[in-house]
Amino acid sequence: MPASRVLNPDLRRSYPRAVRASGCYVYDEHGTAYLDACSGAIVVNVGHGNPEILRAIGAQLAEITFSYRTHFTNGPAEELAAELIEVAPGDLSHVLFTNSGSEAVEAALRLALQFWQERGQPQRTVLVSREGSYHGATLGSLGLSGHTARRRGLEAVLPQWPRAAEANCSACPFGLTRSSCALQCAQSVADAIVAAGPERVAAVVVEPVVGAAAGAVPAPAGYLRALADICRRYDVLLIADEVITGGGRTGRWFASAEDGVVPDLIVLGKGVSAGYAPLGAVLVGARLWDGIRSGSGRVGLGHTYAGNPLSTAAGLAVLRYVREHDLPARAAAVGADLLRRLRDVVDRRGLAADVRGRGLLLAVEFADPAAAGDGRPGITAAALVAAAQRRGLLLYPAGTGAVQRAVIVAPPLTIEPAEVDQLVQLFAAALDDMDDPAASDSAVATKGADR
Ligand SMILES: Cc1ncc(COP(=O)(O)O)c(C=O)c1O
Repeated sequence: MPASRVLNPDLRRSYPRAVRASGCYVYDEHGTAYLDACSGAIVVNVGHGNPEILRAIGAQLAEITFSYRTHFTNGPAEELAAELIEVAPGDLSHVLFTNSGSEAVEAALRLALQFWQERGQPQRTVLVSREGSYHGATLGSLGLSGHTARRRGLEAVLPQWPRAAEANCSACPFGLTRSSCALQCAQSVADAIVAAGPERVAAVVVEPVVGAAAGAVPAPAGYLRALADICRRYDVLLIADEVITGGGRTGRWFASAEDGVVPDLIVLGKGVSAGYAPLGAVLVGARLWDGIRSGSGRVGLGHTYAGNPLSTAAGLAVLRYVREHDLPARAAAVGADLLRRLRDVVDRRGLAADVRGRGLLLAVEFADPAAAGDGRPGITAAALVAAAQRRGLLLYPAGTGAVQRAVIVAPPLTIEPAEVDQLVQLFAAALDDMDDPAASDSAVATKGADR
């Protein structure tokens, strides 16, 4: 194969070429099938090549693919916004579209800053986020992210906003347990607001279930409610980054609703168009909407492709499919079963690991062998993901800093029972390969099989 002209993530590696995909499977140019147990990057919620989505995109292609937002609105954008608001909690009432999760996070930040400017408080420019978090790859969204590996080399140019402690009961930063911790992690957000000066803080930004940076770490019970109370106490906006969690993956439409919380802004990406077209969105609550509408009445930010009819038609078809098939409920049920079975696989091998998550956003984090003291070499995320891919199973490595041994398991919400069986078998086989590198080298993904 000729040398690639694409700047791939690892320039020393040769990547298989994905040529087609269907349901839970991706096929490479040799006909090798891969069971997509992480939906790409936790994106393909309705499965690959879903005929209903393809039909809707085809119909839209024949109508209109681009119109510019200062000239026109368009049907799919209007319908998608209206239907997102139907499933959104509380007083979220309007939608701003972008082309990615990072752009949507940036847009949410800018809306928050604009809101305070219009309220006569332009000094509110501080954004509080948390360690062990990921909010995107652009400088603003990365500036919020407590993802040490992805920040590396950029510290000098990133905005220096304060980060509170993470909320991770699997590795509590305070060494406490949930029964007696009094949510010290939530208090740390309050402390960060007070240290910055509440009158200078625009918003708090959190992932309700932490994805890439920590591996499917749900907020402790009561944490989001406590954060909402803290934000109210200091009159600070609450932004929920639901780029990974939004749209049904965690067993409900929005993970932030778990504590009955209604954020001022909810950020969406990934599953909102499920990989069928680039799309991100910000759901805007009544307070912001009223503030901006009765102020300047203008939203100046936007990207050329934002809200284009093709991407929003894809998003609309995905939303309708998720609704019609009640995929949030399915994610909750299938996820509970898969979590139990992954835990069983790990336990039967005597491995020390935390198996966790919500709905079909799951992760397995293996203990550091030094801590486990079992004499085994220890499993890293990178090694397990590589072994799994050789077996024909796609997993997503998560974590940064101290978290280096977590893999995310997040198949399409449409996964069938037989595919769950196969996922569990392949996961177990990849784990066994970790003990036996020779087996791992000879393991090959199934060729030619339509599985
Ligand atoms: C929680 C969260 N926010 C934002 C982003 C950035 O989204 P994108 O990669 O679409 O720019 C991601 C991507 O992984 C994410 O997980």
